[in-house]
Amino acid sequence: MSGSDEPGRLPGGNTVLVEFSGGIAWVTMNRPDKRNAINPVLSFEMLEVFEALETDDRCGVLVLTGAGDAYSAGMDLREYFRATDKLSYDERLKIMRKSAMAQWKRLQFYGKPTIAMVNGWCFGGAFNSLVACDLAVAAEDATFGLSEINWGIIPAGTVTKAVASVMGQRDTMYYVMTGETFDGRKAASMGLVNEAVPRAQLRSRVDKLARTLLEKNPMALRIAKHAARRVRNMPWEDAEDYLFAKLDQLRFLDPEKGREKGMTQFLDEKSYRPGLAAYRRDD
Ligand code: ACO
Repeated sequence: MSGSDEPGRLPGGNTVLVEFSGGIAWVTMNRPDKRNAINPVLSFEMLEVFEALETDDRCGVLVLTGAGDAYSAGMDLREYFRATDKLSYDERLKIMRKSAMAQWKRLQFYGKPTIAMVNGWCFGGAFNSLVACDLAVAAEDATFGLSEINWGIIPAGTVTKAVASVMGQRDTMYYVMTGETFDGRKAASMGLVNEAVPRAQLRSRVDKLARTLLEKNPMALRIAKHAARRVRNMPWEDAEDYLFAKLDQLRFLDPEKGREKGMTQFLDEKSYRPGLAAYRRDD
């Protein structure tokens, strides 16, 4: 269900831009002159925007991308590393904790579907939001890299965990250890993104994907995507019990009673086929 695209007040500032269009909120990291490197201000503003959009009817699907020729060049080496080196451990931890909220914790179990649209450079810390988004589409010529090893550190702050959760062990080891770059096609072949498309088609492909998601029952989508993340690390018996419980939770919570509509439209009205499309939500 999408709300109107009427502009409304959003928190955040200049480092994060939000544009609404037909139920999609396009969220753009906006420090193009610094290749959208993530500094504390950008992190904190992203978090404010995520908080606001989760309860904003104009956002049915959230797309995260970057301004200019970068998705994001990772953590800002000047403002996240050099500038915090002299702070106490507790002070540094406070900043890093808040940043983790913006980069992945808030996104991993977000209430709305999320798509990362990788339009260019994507390094190090940027992998956190990339993997935390539910789906990801890259430009074929986008450039990815775990560059940490190139400046004498390791992909920490969950970057290695993020990569290992979607890529195989050999590929993870290779790129963690060599710091070599790879392009969007390679990212798709390794499962880091769902697909790579020519740059000129990137926005239209993501728009189409978002519109497919907008046709689905929002409560079912929310529960389905959270469950898909959680069952990965559960034993089978636990997963079975958990998924039955989530199914019951969905019937209880779903305001549009989608299950009943779907069955009526298929079994009684014979007006659609669930194997081929979503039920009509406006009935
Ligand atoms: N941290 C701080 N500043 C950055 C970062 C970053 N991660 N990335 C780019 N910038 C700044 C540059 O210092 C430069 O600033 P200036 O104009 O004030 O000199 C500006 O952005 C443009 O950068 P260039 O290097 O000139 O841009 P170019 O298009 O030639 O190269 C590239 C882009 C390849 C992304 C390059 O900027 C780069 O290697 N950035 C660092 C990538 C990286 O290693 N990120 C950290 C990963 S580790 C982690 O996230 C924990």
